[in-house]
Amino acid sequence: MKKKLISLALVMTMCIALLAGCGGSSSASSSASSAPAAEAAAEATDGDLATKKVGVCIYQFSDNFMTLFRNELERYLVEQGFSKDNITIVDGANDQATQSGQIDNFIADNVDVLIINLVNSSSAATVTDKVVAAGIPLVYINREPDADEQQRWADNNWNICYVGCDARQSGTFQGEIIGDLGLDAVDFNKNGKIDYIMIEGDPENIDAAYRTEFSVKALTDAGFEVNCLDDQVGMWDQVKGGELVANSLSQHGNEIEVVFCNNDAMALGALQAIQNAGRKVGTDIYLVGVDALTEVVEKVISGEITGTVFNNHFAQADGAADAAIRYLKGEGNEHNIQCDYTKVTAENAQEILDSLK
Ligand code: BGC
Repeated sequence: MKKKLISLALVMTMCIALLAGCGGSSSASSSASSAPAAEAAAEATDGDLATKKVGVCIYQFSDNFMTLFRNELERYLVEQGFSKDNITIVDGANDQATQSGQIDNFIADNVDVLIINLVNSSSAATVTDKVVAAGIPLVYINREPDADEQQRWADNNWNICYVGCDARQSGTFQGEIIGDLGLDAVDFNKNGKIDYIMIEGDPENIDAAYRTEFSVKALTDAGFEVNCLDDQVGMWDQVKGGELVANSLSQHGNEIEVVFCNNDAMALGALQAIQNAGRKVGTDIYLVGVDALTEVVEKVISGEITGTVFNNHFAQADGAADAAIRYLKGEGNEHNIQCDYTKVTAENAQEILDSLK
């Protein structure tokens, strides 16, 4: 029941976001389109969703966050009336060539709608072209294609959209979590600056670029002086993130006051490295991530991690499924559908944890 209420609330949030056209990353929103495929599907009713074939491409199954996302996506599609047998979810194994082959197979198999988490956002134009040529509506998730690409969808009135959260907001929230502690609490070495290291996700991914930029911008906007001691690419990966932070700690030692990680998987790796180096979060260093993985929210409660940002996989997965359904019903979609992140600190972590269950 609680889960149902949460889902309902999230669906409502997405609807409000849709109506208000809220958010606004590199968005190229336009009104609903009416390409031939949508007209052909216009007679679809809730009843025959069970006969519709959905192809879902995930960039990499081993990604913690995308696992939560795809499980929710499948659960919600089934709840909406799709047959589990008609939902095919494939693992791109972090290889664009593999994923492109999977998309070709879905096209050959005449799927009714595609939901794609690209391996490389820069492949969007090629993918869009072949999916449009096949007359299949497409919902991109998680890795946002660039503004030029989104403009093409609008200009051509294609049944293509992106559903996701604005990563600038998550970066800003990370910076604010640190800024709210105040300089006195953070500036352990008393040099008047916030000395930090940045562990980035995949640089191809706009989420990584925006989180890196906006976490620091939130601090400078609030008037703090900052000093970047190290900036490394951990590819969203826990083990890699841990190794990078361990290296950085051995190189810069006590000078590091804050560890920013573009996601929670890398923050978990960072925590291990911090503990191995004999440092203590909240006492002589601070650590923030993004996603609100259950394990991380628990550590925010226990004080082992300073904070994170809830990357709402329920809203994104349900929103992507709703967009797919609207295409199947011939209703069209805005080309860019956004949802909100939520800041997670010790103050609200229990509440967030309860909502994840
Ligand atoms: C998440 C990461 C995830 C990445 C995959 C990001 O939005 O925060 O945890 O690895 O998406 O593209």
